[in-house]
Amino acid sequence: MLGKSESLVHPMSKSLLILTGHSKGLGRAILDHFLNKEGFDVLAISRTKLEIEASNLTQISLDLSELEVLQKELDSVFPIDNYEEFILINNAGWIGEVKPIGSLHPAELRTQVNLNLLAPMFLTNSFIKTYKFNEARKQVINISSGAAKRAVSGWGGYCSTKAALAMFTMVAAKENKSDKFHFYSLAPGIVDTEMQAEIRNSNESDFPDIEKFKGFKENGDLSSPEEVAAKIDFLISNPSKFEDVIQDVRNF
Ligand SMILES: NC(=O)c1ccc[n+]([C@@H]2O[C@H](COP(=O)([O-])OP(=O)(O)OC[C@H]3O[C@@H](n4cnc5c(N)ncnc54)[C@H](OP(=O)(O)O)[C@@H]3O)[C@@H](O)[C@H]2O)c1
Repeated sequence: MLGKSESLVHPMSKSLLILTGHSKGLGRAILDHFLNKEGFDVLAISRTKLEIEASNLTQISLDLSELEVLQKELDSVFPIDNYEEFILINNAGWIGEVKPIGSLHPAELRTQVNLNLLAPMFLTNSFIKTYKFNEARKQVINISSGAAKRAVSGWGGYCSTKAALAMFTMVAAKENKSDKFHFYSLAPGIVDTEMQAEIRNSNESDFPDIEKFKGFKENGDLSSPEEVAAKIDFLISNPSKFEDVIQDVRNF
């Protein structure tokens, strides 16, 4: 059973952020940013639980690629508490096996599609089901990638899952047009996280762009996770400035 989240509600809290992939990288920076922001409670889901105690944080340990478990627990992820705003950030993701199509292992591909695509689809669906008729402001931010729009050799699973999630987000936005409900597919730019280290550790024969990615790191071209978390806050705080579903932090 997932932990109950009723204990989260605090008199000063106006917003509930439900965040996946909070244990490291960009998710960790988003977590820290909103834990330190007044008026936010955070419900955070990763496989790893962090050793931090904060009265406005509830952590759930869950492997989001295990869809049967996720499916059973979905209803308890979204509390029907009295918040003024509910925000879902689907951030957990995996670059997958960096190999050309033809060399991919089906089991790894399945894990990647489950984590990058089906889990955020399940969570977005449940979020809408739970809060559609709630008077609160609602936002869903599905973390995308430049790779959603661009075919990258070696990233077959990654490009495909990010592209499909962007389309799902656009459909959700079209079905829920309201000035109180916003949906974004947000590319975070190139961020200095373990995912980038994993990309730089690929084999050159499997990943022709490897030198370019090593160069990004060497030339200091990567954004810090903290910088990107602050931009995500700007987006969340100013939805009227962002009409399009497809967004890229490099444009604001
Ligand atoms: N870094 C970049 O340059 C970049 C660029 C474009 C897009 N993005 C996107 O940004 C998001 C965050 O990436 P990142 O660079 O911060 O990656 P990261 O450093 O590898 O962190 C990934 C996060 O996802 C969680 N996660 C991974 N597998 C999981 C699973 N099976 N179940 C639950 N949680 C899982 C991890 O926690 P646990 O291991 O504890 O489960 C971790 O908190 C991803 O969606 C990624 O595609 C990143």
